Amino acid sequence: MPYSHCFATTRPHSGSALTCLLAADDADLVRLWSAARGVAGVRLADALASLRHHLVEHFALEEQSLTAAAAPGAERHARDHATVLAWLDHAVDAVGRGALQPARRFLDEDLPRWFQLHHANLDRQVAHVHLASAR
Ligand SMILES: [Fe+2]
Ligand SMILES: [Fe+2]
Repeated sequence: MPYSHCFATTRPHSGSALTCLLAADDADLVRLWSAARGVAGVRLADALASLRHHLVEHFALEEQSLTAAAAPGAERHARDHATVLAWLDHAVDAVGRGALQPARRFLDEDLPRWFQLHHANLDRQVAHVHLASAR
């Protein structure tokens, strides 16, 4: 889902705008994740790089929001972002050395499990913080 959809349907800088942007990002993550699962070799390295680029931007948006709202748990949330990026970097390094298994494990197991837990426990709070501050 493109960001423009959010700009067209919500008030700028409102809680619902942020919620929409984060949901659009999550839809992009799912698209990039499935693309990466279907390829190997150089295309896998490219797909992991796109995934990383996306995650870094998405995490920055969330972390800025939490910091701006002085939300409790912001540091813990950022640490959980750093953890999944470290796993991804490990997978990228392995692919660079010709080993596909760490990337497959990251894509098939670690990332989906991390996403579910992170989303349920931490990302939900980002939306709450903003919806509360927009009232
Ligand atoms: Fe997050
Ligand atoms: Fe998120």
